[in-house]
Amino acid sequence: MVEDDVELSKVIAGEKACELLTSISELKVIGIGTGSTVKKFIETCLHFLKKHKAVASSPDTVIFAKEHGIHVLDPLTVDELDAYVDGADEVSSKLDMVKGRGGALLREKTLAYMSRNRIYIVDYTKYTGKEYLYAKPIPVEIAPMTLNYVLRAIERIGLFEPIIRTGGGKDGPVITDNGNYIIDLKPLKPLLNPREVHYELKSLHGVIETGLFPSEELVDTVIVGYPGKATIFHRK
Ligand code: A5P
Repeated sequence: MVEDDVELSKVIAGEKACELLTSISELKVIGIGTGSTVKKFIETCLHFLKKHKAVASSPDTVIFAKEHGIHVLDPLTVDELDAYVDGADEVSSKLDMVKGRGGALLREKTLAYMSRNRIYIVDYTKYTGKEYLYAKPIPVEIAPMTLNYVLRAIERIGLFEPIIRTGGGKDGPVITDNGNYIIDLKPLKPLLNPREVHYELKSLHGVIETGLFPSEELVDTVIVGYPGKATIFHRK
């Protein structure tokens, strides 16, 4: 079944990330991202993770890691991370990425900037092999009272159809772990220059962070899992 293949591919990518971590020297503090692939990584790499200290990119991961007996530190007590492992929603052939389906993009990006080894694990459905990003909406975290201003400003840019993210458990906009709103930007055409688009969006008043992760700033390694193997891409 396709669903089983995807789940197995997540496990295989997680195992490979665990293997990679063991080869990093002086590994003390590991950043752990958010999402279903990361949870597989935590389960498959538990023995190794328990011997280290961790920082997590969301309360969801803090709770899961703590339940599994991992020592989780407050990010404010840490200056840098030796490695960071996280999932992604879309990965291009240039290793540019879209993240933030789970709404944790701001903290994820912070931990990625703080780390000297950024490793992303995805199943094969996330790696498009295309030079551009286009498949997934780009989440943008904004200050709540700027909503209408940001929506109009994004419409003027003309590259996206903006959709306010709503969710279960509450009517109206989803509130992030940082007390903000998220707008999902559906690309109207392929994004050939995600880094420039990221900075254009970031320059808008009210925008706190985007889910665009340009490879040259935030990616070192991407592991793509398949049912029977993993392919590792290193940023050139
Ligand atoms: C969380 O906000 C996201 O960036 C996740 O890391 C990303 O959506 C991948 O999640 P899955 O592993 O659940 O697909």
